[in-house]
Amino acid sequence: MYNYQNLVYENENGIAIVAINRPKALNALNAATMRELNDLCDKLAQDKAVQVVILTGSGDKAFVAGADITEMQAMSAIEGREWGKLGQLVFNKLENLPQPVIAAVNGFALGGGCELAMACDIRIASEKAKFGQPEVTLGITPGFAGTQRLARLVGKGLAKEILYTGDMIDAAEAYRIGLVNKVVAPEELMAAAKAMAQKIMMRAPVAVRLCKAAVNEGLDTDLETGTAYEAEVFGLCFATEDQKEGMAAFVEKRKANFKGK
Ligand code: CAA
Repeated sequence: MYNYQNLVYENENGIAIVAINRPKALNALNAATMRELNDLCDKLAQDKAVQVVILTGSGDKAFVAGADITEMQAMSAIEGREWGKLGQLVFNKLENLPQPVIAAVNGFALGGGCELAMACDIRIASEKAKFGQPEVTLGITPGFAGTQRLARLVGKGLAKEILYTGDMIDAAEAYRIGLVNKVVAPEELMAAAKAMAQKIMMRAPVAVRLCKAAVNEGLDTDLETGTAYEAEVFGLCFATEDQKEGMAAFVEKRKANFKGK
C-alpha cells in the first residue's frame, strides 16, 4: 500500500490500480505528481505483489489533460528542459517496468496525458476518451516523448498531422489508427482493463515479462539485434519451472498452473 497526495493507489489481488488524482485540474501533471509517479515506478519495479498495473485518471472527465500549464507558464528554457527530462525519465521508467502496464483511458488524454498513455504497454479507451497533442496551440512542442512514441505507434504521417494541427481525435479514430487497442463503453472501462489484466496473470509470468523486455529492447534496435535478444530470452524460458509445467499441461491435456518460477 503506497500513500501519495496526487495518486490513488490500490492493489487488487495482484493488480496495482493507479489513478492520477487531480480532478479539479483534469488530472494535469504538475511537478509534485510527476515526482510521485517517479517514486511509485521505483517501488513497483521491486514489488513482487504486483503482477499487472492499470493506470487511469480520477473522475469521469479526464485521464490526464496534459502537463500543468499554470506551472509551465513562467518557466525558463533551462527549467523547461529539466521538466521535459524529468517527464521523459519517469515515462521511460513506466515503459520499462517489469510488469505489463495497461492504460484505462477514461477521458481527455492530451499532451502529457497522451504521452503517458503511450508509455503504457496497452491502451483501452472509453468511448468518451479524446486524444491529442495540442502543444503547438500553446507555442511549444511535446516534451514527454510525444514526438517519438506517437510516430512509432501510428506512423510518421499521421503522427505529424496530429502534432502539427493540435487537433483532438475521438476514441473511434484512435482505434482506427492503432493508438488504442480497444474501445469500450465508459461504464465497462475498468472491468475491461481488469479482465485483460487477469488474463495476462493466468499466463506464465516470467515469459510475459520477457515478452515485454524483448519488444521494448527490439523496437529500439535493428532486426538482427532484436532477434538475437529474442533467442536469448526464448532460451532462458527453458530454465523455468513454468516452461516445464506449461508443456506438461499441454501434453497431459490439462490447464497449466504457473508459479512464476
Ligand atoms: N494544466 C493546468 N490546468 C488544466 C489543464 C492543464 N493541462 N487542463 C485543464 N486544466 C484545468 C482548467 O484550467 C480548469 O481549471 P479552473 O476550473 O480552475 O478554471 C479545469 O482544469 C477544467 O478545465 P476546463 O474548464 O478547461 O474544462 P473544459 O471541459 O472546458 O475543457 C479541455 C477541457 C479541452 C481538456 C481543456 O481543459 C484543455 O484544453 N486543457 C488543456 C489541454 C492541453 O493543452 N494539454 C497540453 C498541455 S502541454 C503539455 O502537456 C506539454 C508536454 O508535452 C509535456
